[in-house]
Amino acid sequence: MSRPDYAEKIPNNVGLAEDRRLQRALESWQPDFLSWWETMGPTLPTQDVYLRTAIDVRGEGWAQFGHVPMIDYRWGIFLADKNPDRRIAFGAHKGEPAWQKVPGEYRAELQRLIVIQGDTEPASVEQQRNLGATAPSLYDLRNLFQVNVEEGRHLWAMVYLLHAYFGREGREEAEELLHRNSGSADSPRILGAFNEETPDWLSFYMFTYFTDRDGKYQLGTLKESAFDPLSRTCEFMLKEEAHHMMVGTTGVDRVVERTAQVMVENDTDEVAALGAIPLDIIQKYLNFHYSVSLDLFGGETSTNVANYYTAGLKGRWLEERRKDDHQLTNDSIMVDALVEGEIAQHEVMALTGLNTDLRREYIADCSGGVKRWNRILEEAGLAQRLYLPHVAFNRKVGAFAAIEAAPSGEKLTASEWDARKGQWLPTATDKTFVRSLMQPVYERGKIAAWVAPPRNGINGQPFDYDYVHLA
Ligand SMILES: [Fe+2]
Ligand SMILES: [Fe+2]
Repeated sequence: MSRPDYAEKIPNNVGLAEDRRLQRALESWQPDFLSWWETMGPTLPTQDVYLRTAIDVRGEGWAQFGHVPMIDYRWGIFLADKNPDRRIAFGAHKGEPAWQKVPGEYRAELQRLIVIQGDTEPASVEQQRNLGATAPSLYDLRNLFQVNVEEGRHLWAMVYLLHAYFGREGREEAEELLHRNSGSADSPRILGAFNEETPDWLSFYMFTYFTDRDGKYQLGTLKESAFDPLSRTCEFMLKEEAHHMMVGTTGVDRVVERTAQVMVENDTDEVAALGAIPLDIIQKYLNFHYSVSLDLFGGETSTNVANYYTAGLKGRWLEERRKDDHQLTNDSIMVDALVEGEIAQHEVMALTGLNTDLRREYIADCSGGVKRWNRILEEAGLAQRLYLPHVAFNRKVGAFAAIEAAPSGEKLTASEWDARKGQWLPTATDKTFVRSLMQPVYERGKIAAWVAPPRNGINGQPFDYDYVHLA
């Protein structure tokens, strides 16, 4: 038997060729991964797709582009370059050298954090598996598949950490990552938003804008981790996430742009009959995806997260740019709360309020999207605007899970909510309408009528390009 070439089979910069034990572990996991991809991955049969493949972590040459059959995509393992002098930036171990091995006292917590992150990666592939059947253009179809293969690679990244650092338990967890499935009744994915379906392309754009962006913030906190291999893994994943954010941001841009165009041309808000998506439906989808994504940040206060921070397991977003002592033992923060049953805030220790800190960074980032979509409306000469709903709106996790609130932040009784929620969240009729627009367009250079074409193609290629060859 010839010795497989590991750089070829599993592209990596972790010295896989020299590590027999790790090779064996990954080799026994790989067939399960491939059969998961075939049964739970994209359903649309394709010959090949114009994909970006990570081949290195440095500079401009970190990825190559080319037409590849998805099953032959080279899911690699890449960690950002090691800084041998890296020191822990926060918590009780601040100033000590970063850890190259898992400290026994934090083993269970680190493994849990990696499993939770790892679980979201294949989940989104499962949620999006049927979207190929209704793609608005070959360009969009290619972007969907790019996101899918990279989420697959992110799963590899987490499985690498489990295999390399967590022994038999890590290998068992790696198997479980393939056995849980999005929306499954008996073994669902760990986090709620990853069990929601992504049934249409408006949902896909909203998901990649709002829910993938949650991923960006979670990875940002893990990138700060004292456990150096986790930090370096997440740093490189963030590089790929930038493309996922772009798909969401420009996807919603293009829906809003097309809607605005049809509104102006016909001087009406009622664009449904004209084949575009009415602004109020776009707002409802936004409300839904934003509110379920806010839930992903957990409760406003958490002693677990305080402990993770103090231990050095996960930091804050852009930890090193914060101008404080990076230990936070004497600081406080205002967090959302129900105070005597009313929507309000109260003061807690900064350490226990870290989920709130991260959620606020995320919210500020999300408002950037709303600004750009409103600029599109403004430039079209329209008075309507999109907005982010209040944090208390449609929450299932945290202080406001117990109450109902309008997008304005007005508290509602249960019966008021039931009577009015259809104004704010997609109804069955809205969803059916959006799905009715989702007719596939597979002809090169053509696009569906409900979305504007992109300004730029991928990797310098034009929009009119054979991004995907269908089978
Ligand atoms: Fe990811
Ligand atoms: Fe992503």
